[in-house]
Amino acid sequence: MKTTILLAVCAFLAAGGAAARNAVDLTEWKFRYCGGCDPDTPVKEPKDCFKAAYDDAQWRVVQAPHDWGVEGVFDRKYGCWVGGLPCFGVGWYRTRFKTTAAMAAGRASLEFDGVMSDSKVYVNGACVGGRPFGYASFSFDVTALLAPEGTENVIAVRVDNALWGARWYPGGGLYRPVRIVTTGRTRIAWNGVWVKPSVKRGDTARHARCIGVLDVEVALDGDAEGCEVRKRILGEKGLCVESPRLWDVTAPNLYTARVEVVRAGRVIDACDTVFGFRTAEFRPKEGFFLNGRHLKINGVCLHHDLGPLGAAVDRGSIRRQLRIMREMGANAVRTSHNPPARELLEECDRMGIMVLDEIFDEWRSPKMLMGYSRFFADWWERDLVDWIRRDRNHPCVIAWSVGNEVEEQKTPHAGRELGARLAAVAHREDPFRPVTMGCDSTAVFTNGMMEAMDIYGANYRPDFYKELLERFPGKGVLGTETASMVSSRDTYFYPLPDGFEKRPRPFRKGYLDRQVSSYDIFPQRPHNYHPDVEFFRQDTLPQVYGEFIWTGFDYLGEPAPHPSSRSSYYGAVDLCGFPKDRYYAYQAQWRPEHAMVHLLPHWTWHGREGQRTPVWVYTSGDEAELFVNGKSCGFRKKDKANGVYTLEWNDVSYEPGEIRVVAYRNGRKWAEVCRRTAGRAFGLRVTAEQGAADDAFVYYRIALVDSQGTVVPCEDRELVLSVEGDGELAGACNGDATDMTAFRSPRQRTFRGLMLAVVRRVPGKTHRLCVEGESLPRTLCPSPHAER
Ligand code: GAL
Repeated sequence: MKTTILLAVCAFLAAGGAAARNAVDLTEWKFRYCGGCDPDTPVKEPKDCFKAAYDDAQWRVVQAPHDWGVEGVFDRKYGCWVGGLPCFGVGWYRTRFKTTAAMAAGRASLEFDGVMSDSKVYVNGACVGGRPFGYASFSFDVTALLAPEGTENVIAVRVDNALWGARWYPGGGLYRPVRIVTTGRTRIAWNGVWVKPSVKRGDTARHARCIGVLDVEVALDGDAEGCEVRKRILGEKGLCVESPRLWDVTAPNLYTARVEVVRAGRVIDACDTVFGFRTAEFRPKEGFFLNGRHLKINGVCLHHDLGPLGAAVDRGSIRRQLRIMREMGANAVRTSHNPPARELLEECDRMGIMVLDEIFDEWRSPKMLMGYSRFFADWWERDLVDWIRRDRNHPCVIAWSVGNEVEEQKTPHAGRELGARLAAVAHREDPFRPVTMGCDSTAVFTNGMMEAMDIYGANYRPDFYKELLERFPGKGVLGTETASMVSSRDTYFYPLPDGFEKRPRPFRKGYLDRQVSSYDIFPQRPHNYHPDVEFFRQDTLPQVYGEFIWTGFDYLGEPAPHPSSRSSYYGAVDLCGFPKDRYYAYQAQWRPEHAMVHLLPHWTWHGREGQRTPVWVYTSGDEAELFVNGKSCGFRKKDKANGVYTLEWNDVSYEPGEIRVVAYRNGRKWAEVCRRTAGRAFGLRVTAEQGAADDAFVYYRIALVDSQGTVVPCEDRELVLSVEGDGELAGACNGDATDMTAFRSPRQRTFRGLMLAVVRRVPGKTHRLCVEGESLPRTLCPSPHAER
């Protein structure tokens, strides 16, 4: 067992030498998978394994957070809509801990950040309850069931992740942290601190003129007789801050509120809560304002998996995803379509990334046969309340979304009635943030579904923004889900279809080898579209709050348009986090002051000499000139007023060598990029990404290169990965949605010349990643961590 200090919600604090509160992560578990991952594998559960005396010696030892699905091999029989991984079925976990003196004298709670899904929890053989919703965080007081001091307790958890229960990869098991929290008999309740910061006076954009005031509400659990609750902001006097440093996307300033429960002069419980002072206003006629400043929400939808690591939560990997998204220019995340790991919110707080926090993909009517709708009637209110109480202290959360494209959006009554009930509870639990939901159905224009919502959440409806602003003048419009383009990284097919140059580009299908062209001319469905279409609407309607693209990262499952692949094609980056071309379309638009230019396609096309090979450019400049082997192909200029953001040279004929683009802004050179034809594969370039010192994993980028160091995109190779020293290969991936090689396999193929390897570190130790391939020099890369 390992002790973890919980940073965002409650930290345990030493008071007068005695620990008032102690939280210990339960990381080591025995595990038994019992089947049920596909219709032909029956569930066989060991008898009596919930009982303390059960002999689990033969069970496997696993570390939580643990996702049993990602350990498996890909097989289409498990359902490609969940990534072709065996995540469904029934599993049992067991662990032990001794009752300490503090537990015997005080109280102990078991906290689960999320169990996928429909869990039942047993302590020393007695069932303490469970939670159907796999994304809910929940807690049980287990004091009454504990064994006497100094003796062992057994926790057993049954997890039933029903087949047909998910629309994308959910993971399976104890995929988020579990901890045991020990307190005195009177304590601060679970999620019992509610910080309500406000910024008073005038123009909050001018820091000097405002005062930050904190109101703190505390719920106590136990006998509160004679207790005093003390509250203060650490480093400040009391609960006011003059000219507070505001939390913003440019400077995510945070404060800490300390709550202490004092009885007879002794601190009997204490809790630290990280928060921020900021204002976030959705002004229907003007747009979104953060701290009084107009800001477009440039957001990404993210599912919760971490690519080759599956759904098991890892803070460093979440941070890496957010870094890659921020580098693209994203300032916001929509937690599509369910409550995120608390680590994600903590990192967004620290990095200055706003969050549209979303809870449900289904209400009462099912999308999936065994989805959440089975539990909705009995659980929605409890799940909603627990979610908001857990997340409402985070400054990054700017709005709540109570649903995504729920089936009720198409009905005349149910949507309106249920929407109003959910919104009312959300408003009761947090009167400070607006409530929305993502809807794509045009029925919502008139069926009253949006009546109770504060913001019209529009999925894929840029052409209706103007109309919606008029129809819903008091709400304003947010593009809760946009674009949904599909593409495979560094993949291009020729010839492009007739008429591809036309704008707007008509909807057509054109896929090959289960890959999708990265020219981004093949949307997944008729109402999906290229990023430019959204940019145009957002630019011409500044009062639209912003957008959340579908999606920032490729994710496991939902592999449309190729139902037999393993992962999605929607991401601006692939499953490894390697940028696709579309990433740069967003960067050009979302980071206008970042001097950049990107061109596509790559320039290695042996055998296509003389053939038409359109060259497209994304730049934050306003025009650019293209050169092929030094010869100018002329200038192209953006015409934003007419929706032209991409620069296109559609009649270039391919000749090996070098293409170069020079971009200009206001007539001055702004950025330049060139791509060269690669020769034969000559070697490997392996680089370790710089993470934080305490990251659990190191991410390595592997590139197949020619003798000049140019990435070779058309000669993929199988490579063998191994780790020397203290470390273990945790997963590897190439970003190819069709590749069914197990993530844990040490043998992997590059995809368009690239691969990602993830190594689990041993804290304080070093290792080297070793990469080998036929007729390629063995290449070693040291981890960036120094031995401590
Ligand atoms: C949306 C849906 C998303 C995803 C996307 C794919 O309609 O909300 O969850 O399925 O389509 O284009």
